[in-house]
Amino acid sequence: MKICCIGAGYVGGPTMAKIAQKCPDIDVTVVDVSEDRVAAWKTEELPVYEPGLLEVVKEARGRNLFFSTEVEKEMEASDIIFIAVGTPTKTYGVGAGQSADMKFVEMCARQIAKVATSDKIIVEKSTVPVRTAESVKRILNAAGSKCRFQVLSNPEFLAEGTAMEDLECPDRVLIGGDMDKAGQAATQKLVDVYAHWVPRENIITTNLWSSELSKLTANAFLAQRISSINTISALCEATGADVDEVAYAIGRDSRIGPKFLKSSVGFGGSCFQKDILNLVYLSNHYGLPEVAAYWESVVKMNDYQKHRFSRRIVSSLFNTVTDKKIAIYGFAFKKDTNDTRESAAIYICRDLLDEGAHLAIFDPKVTPAQIYHDLGLDADTDRISICPDPYEAADQAHAIAVLTEWDCLKEDQMDYQRVFDSMEKPAFFFDGRNLVDLEALRKIGFESSGIGKP
Ligand code: UDX
Ligand code: UDX
Repeated sequence: MKICCIGAGYVGGPTMAKIAQKCPDIDVTVVDVSEDRVAAWKTEELPVYEPGLLEVVKEARGRNLFFSTEVEKEMEASDIIFIAVGTPTKTYGVGAGQSADMKFVEMCARQIAKVATSDKIIVEKSTVPVRTAESVKRILNAAGSKCRFQVLSNPEFLAEGTAMEDLECPDRVLIGGDMDKAGQAATQKLVDVYAHWVPRENIITTNLWSSELSKLTANAFLAQRISSINTISALCEATGADVDEVAYAIGRDSRIGPKFLKSSVGFGGSCFQKDILNLVYLSNHYGLPEVAAYWESVVKMNDYQKHRFSRRIVSSLFNTVTDKKIAIYGFAFKKDTNDTRESAAIYICRDLLDEGAHLAIFDPKVTPAQIYHDLGLDADTDRISICPDPYEAADQAHAIAVLTEWDCLKEDQMDYQRVFDSMEKPAFFFDGRNLVDLEALRKIGFESSGIGKP
């Protein structure tokens, strides 16, 4: 059997590496239009940073895992084609309610229909609006090909930073397919691939639409928990309660559970906001404005949390940050990834830049080029500087804002006395991730505050 995956990104790369590692009997080729990306997958410097990924890639690469830019050739040769191309919403500044941009998925479907000379199973891996499979089917079947195509939905639930563990031991694998005989046969083929290492009872099969909708719903529920605890963080700050204590207390109720209750500067990442906006769009489309408004509030609350944090910095710094240096600790949307898509840091940095601050940004994994790009600045700008270590960033700064929960920023890995000594006084510390011990910092002399903390 031959598998090809279109899109060598955060989803396609790690997923295919794991399939290749676990299924030595299957040839897996990841194709991408980007020559640079494909070239990087063949080196030790993979284009995606994910703990444990390089080891898995090295085990299978050249054996049954290949990377290529010959998209059409690999499509033609494969029995199963995964589509893992981007499905982005519009970037910063465009309001809620935008549905995902499906042009890449559509392009892939047209290309497959054009080049196919044998029957194929097409697997939607990219997060897509519900009923996308129907459009894909129509495009495939309209091309007049003699080949038969089955479309499956196999949404990705891996989280960046833990992608390799999530792939190794998934809570569940979800596969949606047509309920007729041919659809079920295709579903079974994909079940057999995952059954190489995933216990059968953890592989759920459903109809196509349930599978597509489950992906959006899972992310919406996860994001909703974060927005919910973030509303409580604002109340904690007003009342003197501690949001981590509240989260712990409610999480001990087994019906609620402890996960995804960490209050923060706001959720980011390529999926949560996009998927909720998809759900909002869909609800409006089907004439369900109350449902749409309910889910939209999760995104609105997240925006509120981000801006609330930047407003707090400005008001604490005597209502002005103009020409003040502020150290930004962390730019990625969470730790252990170099991904900055929808990172809360982008929005907070923009707010502070609008107020005239000078930002000194440190992140252990994000490249300077990415930061300039995300903030819409040229590399020769004097509005931000990008620092190779956190000490340089804090030197003569008025404040530090922790925006990503990198382990290297914790007090046991940092000399915060040295940081304090080098800063302007009063030295402010805003912990947007509740990462450090605020009391310990206060003892050093910092004016420190967290999210939802007394
Ligand atoms: C993307 C989406 O963001 C996510 O929502 C979806 O679930 C899966 O696809 P990701 O892998 O993180 O996730 O995206 P990205 O890292 O941007 O990778 C997509 C890759 O597809 C890029 O390398 C791009 O060059 C490639 N691509 C895109 C193609 O090869 N062909 C195309 O037509 C379009
Ligand atoms: C998410 C889903 O978890 C995954 O199943 C799906 O396939 C893709 O989207 P990802 O975006 O990689 O994964 O990261 P996730 O760990 O879910 O975190 C998303 C954001 O929420 C991050 O910005 C993170 O910092 C934030 N977060 C998470 C919190 O603020 N508090 C929490 O308790 C958990």
